[in-house]
Amino acid sequence: MIGKLIVYSLIGFVLYFVGDVLYRLDLNKRVYNHRPGFCQKVKGLDHGSEHVEYVEKEKIAFLSSGVQALFEENGPKGAIYLYNFSDTDHKAIKLTIENEPTDFIPHGMGHYYLNGKLHLIVISHTSFKKGFQHRIEILEFNKEKQSLSYVKTIKDKSFIKPNGLHAVGPEQFFFTNDGYYQSEILGAFEMLFKIKGGSVYYYDGKESHALISSEQTPNGIWADVKRKVLYYSSPLGEFIKVIKLSEDLKSVKGELAHVPLLTSPDNLFMDDEGALWTGAHPVLYKIGDIQACFEVAGKPKPSPPPSQVLRLKFSEDFKTHELTEPYTDDGRQIPCSSHVVIDGKGNMLIGSVGLNAVHCKYTPETINAH
Ligand SMILES: *[C@@H]1O[C@H](CO)[C@@H](O)[C@H](O)[C@H]1NC(C)=O
Repeated sequence: MIGKLIVYSLIGFVLYFVGDVLYRLDLNKRVYNHRPGFCQKVKGLDHGSEHVEYVEKEKIAFLSSGVQALFEENGPKGAIYLYNFSDTDHKAIKLTIENEPTDFIPHGMGHYYLNGKLHLIVISHTSFKKGFQHRIEILEFNKEKQSLSYVKTIKDKSFIKPNGLHAVGPEQFFFTNDGYYQSEILGAFEMLFKIKGGSVYYYDGKESHALISSEQTPNGIWADVKRKVLYYSSPLGEFIKVIKLSEDLKSVKGELAHVPLLTSPDNLFMDDEGALWTGAHPVLYKIGDIQACFEVAGKPKPSPPPSQVLRLKFSEDFKTHELTEPYTDDGRQIPCSSHVVIDGKGNMLIGSVGLNAVHCKYTPETINAH
């Protein structure tokens, strides 16, 4: 009797587990192309723009490129590109870095003006072969020379597996750790079994404060410090969460919203109207092998992972929201969209994990539901 019960329970558990994995993989999902206006590939960028850091004051964006270097020693190198929205050529330029830190593979980024100087705050990893170590590099942008220069490095034990970053001061920022385990194999195990190994922190310039100490793959992050509201995305949990912060930003007062999306949101961006944007991965199983997001030497990909841009607008009290999907692509214009920013004047820039970026035109009508 007990034996049977155990067997049935085990069968039930296995069925649940398999069903849940199949459901989350989006095996039955299709993506059809649509655009908010004319879209074209950005020139000069071949190895991705995982993070797109928009600087409204200059109408430029910094693109973190080359995450492929984490996995491959002899492939492309990590680099930061500059995209100037005023440039009619639609070309991204690779920035040289004076005193470039060794093993620089940029990931999430934020920016801040210190004494009138534009600083980038950049998460950087060493490759898996070199131990997958993490730190924050601060770089200064020199507009005349069109280059970056090294300022300082920040290390902290809370930089466990950092992914997304949002700067709110010269050395103050929010960031996500998208997992706990460092090796690729244990990381995959963590994802498959939905282990909540990720976390969300606020670094105050001296030390880190855990805001969320256990979460499933927190990734993109955006802080609205005026309202003391923090947003983060979970690609594997397929949701965006909104939390209320304390006055000093060092602790959480409560959850304001949890938006299930049935798609995998990556990085977050908030526009001037308070709408939250995400570059998402609509079909999860296709990015199960991250290599599909990179260039496979000479071989055209028959079925690349598709891309999706979502615009999420909350009501004042966060009780309701409206979602629109201004852009989707079957993966041929841009695979693995990981970020999107808009300038509020009809320009949208979409970044990808490992290949190109896309610049689209839009009008208020093509991004709003109303
Ligand atoms: C962007 O391009 C415009 C027009 O060419 C130029 O005036 C501006 O200085 C450029 N910005 C940067 C940061 O290079």
